[in-house]
Amino acid sequence: MPVITCIEDLRLLAQKRVPRMFYDYVDCGSWTESTYRANADDFQKILLRQRVAVNIDQRSTRSTLIGQSVAMPVALAPTGLTGMQCADGEIKAANAARKFGIPFTLSTMSICSIEDVAAGTGGHPFWFQLYVMRDRGFIERLIDRAKAAGCSALVLTLDLQIVGQRHKDLKNGLSAPPKLTLHNLLNMATKPRWGLGMLGTKRRGFGNVIGHVKGVEDMGSLSAWSAQQFDPTLNWADVEWIKRRWGGKLILKGIQDVEDARLAVASGADALIVSNHGGRQLDGAQSSIGALPAIVDAVGQQIEVHMDGGITRGQDVLKARALGARGTYIGRAFLYGLGAMGEAGVTRALEILHKELDLSMAFCGRTTIDSVDRSILLPTAA
Ligand code: GLV
Repeated sequence: MPVITCIEDLRLLAQKRVPRMFYDYVDCGSWTESTYRANADDFQKILLRQRVAVNIDQRSTRSTLIGQSVAMPVALAPTGLTGMQCADGEIKAANAARKFGIPFTLSTMSICSIEDVAAGTGGHPFWFQLYVMRDRGFIERLIDRAKAAGCSALVLTLDLQIVGQRHKDLKNGLSAPPKLTLHNLLNMATKPRWGLGMLGTKRRGFGNVIGHVKGVEDMGSLSAWSAQQFDPTLNWADVEWIKRRWGGKLILKGIQDVEDARLAVASGADALIVSNHGGRQLDGAQSSIGALPAIVDAVGQQIEVHMDGGITRGQDVLKARALGARGTYIGRAFLYGLGAMGEAGVTRALEILHKELDLSMAFCGRTTIDSVDRSILLPTAA
């Protein structure tokens, strides 16, 4: 077993242990992947300002997100197919997040259902992410199921009504469960841990959908169904309808533009997430960390601004926080941990990020995350 000291170690281990189509689904962006790369690269261009001889003995990374106490300003992002990185992946990731003291967000397109995750985490509240589909009855039922499960926030995704092309997914013939072609069987034969886990669970399809939508019993019909069902007519009137129907904390995900950020404020949402969907949608869009400062300047006094995209180090969390993101989300960073080592791997990813965040904050002469602001960055970068 290699010594794991950083998220990159988890990525390499996940690459060995997860069947290629599911590993590639995570480690890819759309088209040329330029936005996917920019999300991470732009963090490296921001420089931190080291300070010395400041008493940094007592430190805390604790903060709040939409009023909820968190051990650090990081949440697990909603990610599709998480239960294909390892068996029952959503339950494992949710438990790792719960024990660490940060929010877990369940995707509509998860393998474990809302009810599975509620039961598997002892009823501890988690966040639920919603995609808007044409079948509004299904959306109403999903919202009601999330309420019944005690979900404490709804994350409404606004940037995936149409899907950016990811070449790898098409070439790999991505599906859940995977089609048992000779090619897939040969690849899966080299991933015995993954295979044993999958044999031990019944959860191998889209748990929130199968059995809840008439006529959708397997992936064959489901893939056609989701291509038809993601609703391209989604607009701000729908956001208002969802807000009313949900009645709880609402977070809008996928904002990249100042004008849209202002509309998000007008919708009455509690938070917005500056996001380009991990570089998986509009290739050529600005990096999330690049888009963040203008949005914070425009609406940061009126709404909580969060961000995701490209976070693989605690230093990235610190930089995002310095530029005004109250919260950050990790997708790939926890999925690599999950694929590498299940729940323990997600915990390891969180420990790594936390340590990097805590030490980097201290090197900048700060002892609380709530005191971090743009003054910890070199002026040229702010
Ligand atoms: C879904 O959210 C995806 O990016 O595949």
